[in-house]
Amino acid sequence: MTRTDELIRMATKARDNAYAPYSGHPVGAALVTEQGRTFSGCNVENAAYPLGCCAEQSAISAMVLAGGGVIRELVVVGPSDEPCTPCGGCRQRIREFAGPDTIVRACNERGPLLTMTVDELLPESFGPHNLNPRKR
Ligand code: THU
Repeated sequence: MTRTDELIRMATKARDNAYAPYSGHPVGAALVTEQGRTFSGCNVENAAYPLGCCAEQSAISAMVLAGGGVIRELVVVGPSDEPCTPCGGCRQRIREFAGPDTIVRACNERGPLLTMTVDELLPESFGPHNLNPRKR
């Protein structure tokens, strides 16, 4: 099983636990860090709609809780064969923890539908280096 297959399996499993009663759009995400650690997350909606959180956000929070890291690859599995690409806010969240070669894939349970670099997802991004030139 490739690294991507393993992430898709984790994201699909996370999607099973999504709490998406309002949108009916369950999403799972999984990531692997440069250090080889893996984390997953699902979307968690709320009756107060704006408080909902995305699957990518949950996976990143799990990574940070476990000590942080640099994302090597992140996959998103949505509810259909339409690629579920990260929302604008999550593009920025992924960018915060991305390295120069971070890959993001929108997948279904069977494999990747779309593969992008973080720079393609969020060109000319504002990031840590804007606040501290010594950072990436
Ligand atoms: N959602 C995600 O969790 N990730 C994405 O990449 C796009 C959208 C969630 C947010 C909300 O709970 C539902 O999908 C519909 O927008």
